Amino acid sequence: MNVPGQATERGAFRDPAFMANRAAPVHRWVPWIAGFSRQFVQDALARHLRGPSVVLDPFAGVGTTLVEADLAGHAAVGFEINPYAAFAARAKLGAHRLAPDGLRASVAAFEAFMAESARTGRTPEAAPPAAFRTRAPFYSPAVERKVLLALDFTATQEAPIRDLFRLAFAATMVGYSNYSYEPSLGRKASAGRPEVEDGDVAGAIADKLREMAEDAAWYRAARTGPERDDGRVVERSFLEDYAEVAEGSADLLVTSPPYLNNYHYNRNTRPHLYWLGFCSSPGDLKRLEALNVGTYWQNARDEARIDLDPTIDDAEIRATLDEVRERNPEKGVYGGNGWANYAARYFNDCARFLDGAAWCLRPGATALAVIGNSILQGVSVPTDRFLARIAEARGFELAGIHVPRETRAGSSIVESSVRAGKAGGSALYESVVELRRR
Ligand SMILES: C[S@@+](CC[C@H](N)C(=O)[O-])C[C@H]1O[C@@H](n2cnc3c(N)ncnc32)[C@H](O)[C@@H]1O
Repeated sequence: MNVPGQATERGAFRDPAFMANRAAPVHRWVPWIAGFSRQFVQDALARHLRGPSVVLDPFAGVGTTLVEADLAGHAAVGFEINPYAAFAARAKLGAHRLAPDGLRASVAAFEAFMAESARTGRTPEAAPPAAFRTRAPFYSPAVERKVLLALDFTATQEAPIRDLFRLAFAATMVGYSNYSYEPSLGRKASAGRPEVEDGDVAGAIADKLREMAEDAAWYRAARTGPERDDGRVVERSFLEDYAEVAEGSADLLVTSPPYLNNYHYNRNTRPHLYWLGFCSSPGDLKRLEALNVGTYWQNARDEARIDLDPTIDDAEIRATLDEVRERNPEKGVYGGNGWANYAARYFNDCARFLDGAAWCLRPGATALAVIGNSILQGVSVPTDRFLARIAEARGFELAGIHVPRETRAGSSIVESSVRAGKAGGSALYESVVELRRR
């Protein structure tokens, strides 16, 4: 597919979708709905770097960029506001220091503890997170008992093994719950699947931990290059704290910012955030939402009018948002105005992202941003071209827009307008926007 009005190039990068990571060592530890593939990052590193360099990912997720950069001998730094994703990325980046045999011994002790607890009917000491509320019980009673016992065992372990037990639980916790990703978190029953009355919690956690032990040995052997610190994850908003990175010190930026599709990272990781103790009240989640690029449609739809920042002096972006704003006024907050508000905030945050990128990158360095387009209220919003134009006013030149992936599933909200045939013949695609720091 060609992006309208923009020269595109095919074949420069392999598909950035995360699916391919599911079988890859270390990447397979934690599923992340909007992650990208390690092959995509490998291509980017090989194409743009010669010798040990500094690689930056402002929206690091579970650390695909950081892990690949670290494996290839580069210094890696990322920013991530979601504490669970940041925790997972840090654990992966520490994999090369892990003693696999020590972990395997703890797994054996865990299995013995869980088996003995089942035999003796031990009462768990851990309690479910008090403020974590769901419409239907997240765990059935038999499953919850096993989860709490697993947490009791985890509490007896020392770092870093304790963290891996926590991560193994987090990575498997939805599987034995009454919820699933469709792709947003929802009840299994609503998707026509049975609830989980009972399940092999210990087996799922132990299998994940054995996978980690195997991958830790692999990571140590595969990690090449000079002696260096582990990749670093800054658990703060890149938009606010990019000056954490020394000016002009980064040689390559590889990232995928949140898309303009309202995919709700915070709501979709609520079980992980609460059960791991990263959040203890709805206010904690609200604070994360406010930091997220675009701050979500739900937080913008009620405002009378949110405009583009005056520094985004672009007639086409403005006209597109105006078109969205005029659509479906009869739908109230569900109509065009709310979506135009959200889009305005989103592009304002894109400008802040690019200001930060311009600060961190040395002159001549490349920034690669994987981004999906959007269809809002039936209006096609070419986020890739808009991102490029905002960047051109902020110290970058556009080197190209690549389209490695021509179709993708939309979020439920965006998709519904496509399904309803309101998209005016547009389709959802994903692009790599390649920018060069002047
Ligand atoms: C598309 S995902 C990135 C996934 C990543 N490429 C990977 O492979 O795991 C975008 C990430 O940006 C994070 N994020 C959103 N707003 C942010 C901000 N202001 N600063 C840092 N991270 C942010 C989200 O929590 C989410 O994990």
